[in-house]
Amino acid sequence: MKLVLATSNKGKVREIKALCQEYEVIPYTELIEEFEIIEDGDTFKDNALIKAKAVYEALDDEDLIVMADDSGISVDILDGAPGIYSARYGGAGASDKDNLYKLMQDIKEKGVENSPAHYTAAIAIVTKDREKTVHGWMYGTALTQAKGEGGFGYDPMFIPLGYDKTLGELDESIKKELSHRSKALNLAGKILRSL
Ligand code: IMP
Repeated sequence: MKLVLATSNKGKVREIKALCQEYEVIPYTELIEEFEIIEDGDTFKDNALIKAKAVYEALDDEDLIVMADDSGISVDILDGAPGIYSARYGGAGASDKDNLYKLMQDIKEKGVENSPAHYTAAIAIVTKDREKTVHGWMYGTALTQAKGEGGFGYDPMFIPLGYDKTLGELDESIKKELSHRSKALNLAGKILRSL
């Protein structure tokens, strides 16, 4: 089954490909030119649907199944920020590194060295006659220091519950087990198999 991803984020594409090996996973940018999608929803779920529907319409092929992931990190001491703004936390055009360093700085400015935090992933699946969404979460601790080079985005500052190393330091196989994305994809797999 051909599964088109409504993302060109390399970290997400790599993880989704590894977790969906029974499907032919293709980022939409391999089929059509990348275009801007305005993610103006109020929730991860809304934004995942906005992305999946925009790509489904642009592809204009009833046989394709489009899947979108909207995800981010929410930090308790920051009242849940950056949440749905995780990709643009450092401002328009900010890199993953800019976002990471801004988040660590903002936690530091609260006078603490770490805070409980969690990742959320909403996955939307759009076909010619269906729109479905599922969620997954991963809980842990957000640090004010980056450690390790693995993963992507905020992973070097996040220690998953039950571990003492960041996702930047831990083996990729551990994130594959635990992550918000793998939990959501597990549910998405059940939907895909029912299509
Ligand atoms: P989106 O592409 O609009 O969903 O933005 C996701 C944002 O959250 C990006 O800034 C990512 O770096 C961050 N993010 C989402 N999932 C992860 C993850 O698994 N690890 C690290 N950062 C993540």
